[in-house]
Amino acid sequence: MIDALFMPHRPRRNRRTAAIRGLVRETVLRADQFIYPLFIKDGAGDEDIASMPGCARLSLDGLLREASEALALGVRAVVLFPAIAAELKSPEAQEASNPAGLVPQAIQRLKAEFPELAVFTDVALDPYNSDGHDGLVSDGVILNDETISVLCEQALCHARAGADVVSPSDMMDGRVGALRAALDAEGFIDVAICSYTAKYASAYYGPFRGALDSSPKLGDKKTYQMDPANAREALREATLDEAEGADILMVKPAGPYLDIIAQLRQATTLPLAAYQVSGEYLMIKAAAASGWLDERAVVLESLLSIRRAGADMVLTYFAKDAARWLREN
Ligand code: PBG
Repeated sequence: MIDALFMPHRPRRNRRTAAIRGLVRETVLRADQFIYPLFIKDGAGDEDIASMPGCARLSLDGLLREASEALALGVRAVVLFPAIAAELKSPEAQEASNPAGLVPQAIQRLKAEFPELAVFTDVALDPYNSDGHDGLVSDGVILNDETISVLCEQALCHARAGADVVSPSDMMDGRVGALRAALDAEGFIDVAICSYTAKYASAYYGPFRGALDSSPKLGDKKTYQMDPANAREALREATLDEAEGADILMVKPAGPYLDIIAQLRQATTLPLAAYQVSGEYLMIKAAAASGWLDERAVVLESLLSIRRAGADMVLTYFAKDAARWLREN
């Protein structure tokens, strides 16, 4: 037995009971901080997504059902990703701004049924482009400025259908300013822009591309998405997006890029979003399916960590599950 040590600082005192731990807890996770990504398709019936167990490409009826379940659990925002039939894909990606297309139809149905739901849309050409790239392609080059005018048409199409927030995920230079100008010119001053500010050229998107059959046919996305090696460059992108009028900045992926979230948190006063992407989802799902991880505990810890790093809101395929688990906690 050692004599009582003189030790004024005993951090364990603040961990002694659940009530005390609750008082000193620095980060909270709430269902209304989640944005639920949903895949949609034309026609009746939902289709399971082989590369993302537990996720489906939803018919419009399926979409309404998911949205209503999410709302009932306190998740009040969704973001839509369309699976576009191969025959509607083209090098010019015209389908991206078809007013009778899948996304505008889905927005209209959602907003009619659930006006209180925040509907985010993805602005990028990859689901519509037969090249599978986020921008127009010419001789293997992803065209920047030509792409921007197509993105503006796409964002306007979403705004006219009633989208609350458009989220450019394409990483073209100057697109946030161009979208803001195009939206304002049509009077959509209240449609917000959530910019994928630091979107990395990540291998963690693989399962998502499987879900939409949207992998690039040639080459990769490294001439527009960011190099995973770079952090300062994210600050540069954030400065530009902020100056161009972004309302929310996003970091993607989330878990492997917590340092980027933390740095952006210091650098901007804008709200920050982080996207827990398909590969992050799949790693947890796969490990849980083989009994190697406790899914519930790991999901909640991963989301809490993203929030602790500085994200205000998290896009996560676990939105409904996490909301349910938070209720039970
Ligand atoms: C495309 C887009 C991608 C994701 C969201 N929007 C894929 C990509 O850039 O290739 C990935 C999301 C995920 O992996 O969950 N603009």
